[in-house]
Amino acid sequence: MVKKHTDILEYDQNHIWHPYTSMTNPLPSYIVTHANGVKLTLGDGEQVIDGMSSWWSVVHGYNNDVLNQAIKEQVDKFSHVMFGGLTHEPAVNLSKKLIDITPQGLDKVFLADSGSVAVEVALKMAIQYQHSLGNVNKNKFLTIRNGYHGDTFAAMSVCDPVNGMHQLFTGFMAENYFADAPKSTFNDAFDKSDLESISHQLEKNHHNIAALILEPVVQGAGGMRFYHPEFLKACRQLCDQYNVLLIADEIATGFGRSGKLFACEHAGISPDILCLGKALTGGYMTLAATLCTTEVAETISKGDAGVFMHGPTFMGNPLACAAANASLKLLEDNNWQQQVQNIETILNDELLELSDHRNVNDVRILGAIGVVEAKTSVNMAEIQKQFIKRGVWVRPFGKLIYVMPPFVISETELKTLCKAIVDVVDDDSVFNY
Ligand SMILES: Cc1ncc(COP(=O)(O)O)c(C=O)c1O
Repeated sequence: MVKKHTDILEYDQNHIWHPYTSMTNPLPSYIVTHANGVKLTLGDGEQVIDGMSSWWSVVHGYNNDVLNQAIKEQVDKFSHVMFGGLTHEPAVNLSKKLIDITPQGLDKVFLADSGSVAVEVALKMAIQYQHSLGNVNKNKFLTIRNGYHGDTFAAMSVCDPVNGMHQLFTGFMAENYFADAPKSTFNDAFDKSDLESISHQLEKNHHNIAALILEPVVQGAGGMRFYHPEFLKACRQLCDQYNVLLIADEIATGFGRSGKLFACEHAGISPDILCLGKALTGGYMTLAATLCTTEVAETISKGDAGVFMHGPTFMGNPLACAAANASLKLLEDNNWQQQVQNIETILNDELLELSDHRNVNDVRILGAIGVVEAKTSVNMAEIQKQFIKRGVWVRPFGKLIYVMPPFVISETELKTLCKAIVDVVDDDSVFNY
């Protein structure tokens, strides 16, 4: 057994992969010994305020009594059963709730085990749907540039072709169609020329396109961009016009993060297929869901296979469903809308001053997401050190220093977080000039 913190770190460095890191030249990792509320306790006992919600997921904070209790109660009943031929109350309650709160028309639920898998499921659904209708050539996808949909192969094939991982896996990965991402930002007037590229792709290639997949309004890991809801609205119309399904990937945006419960609501549209994950369980367990319309589900079920061809071992895991049910109740009980609005106001008050800073290209805020886009990429090891010194946990990527704190963060904690960003951005040594 590895005990001392130095031994843990050494073993970790030598044997354990972390996300997107090298095994020969790994970035430093920090040990977490406890996490409570919005604070992480690190190996040496110091506490840092979490600005990341563990990648969009921990909306109610860590070690939350309500979520803890829900899981404990479920553990005492059963932790897992196969979903083939068996079902249980936590999965049924969760599915019912998701159908109630998601945009209209989505009333069939597939419970998957991670965001990337939920995307794979959505893509498969679209292909099976089109094939069931006899559209056997509709087996490719259309998406917009700067997107991110996960790290499995089909999901990667619809991520941005430049900042995604396409080149590394050329020859193996499916080739899909890419339209330009809209330039009109969330707060701009909508420029109709944003529709030219996507309209052109659909006009030219719709015979081969099963579905358009995109992240509604907020493009996350592909660049943290907020685009105009009119674009999404027009995409809905174009999909109908060309008999192409619309898949909304709300794995990052779902459950209030953008200021609406689901980002599709900014445009008042319903997709044919919706992917959810991350904050679904309040960040407690890995769980995702892919919802679709009755039309999609029935068409798939009438096709040659007669079934939908997917079924992971941990599908509908009862512990994860119990956490999700408790998390959805907490969102309501805690008045998530007010929480997100308060965070948005403070992010605006505290971060917008950086707009004119010499090291900053742009500052953008939407809901409980604050982004400071620097002029050049950050030196990750150095900037991380600087943030920890100031008592906060922020994990930038490329030029993007961004925060999406737990909804339960207090005003003082959020101001501390923002102050740390303002201070760190002023230090030229954290950038790769
Ligand atoms: C929009 C979007 N889709 C899919 C995924 C993949 O989810 P996971 O990491 O749970 O596989 C992510 C993860 O960041 C995401 O932001």
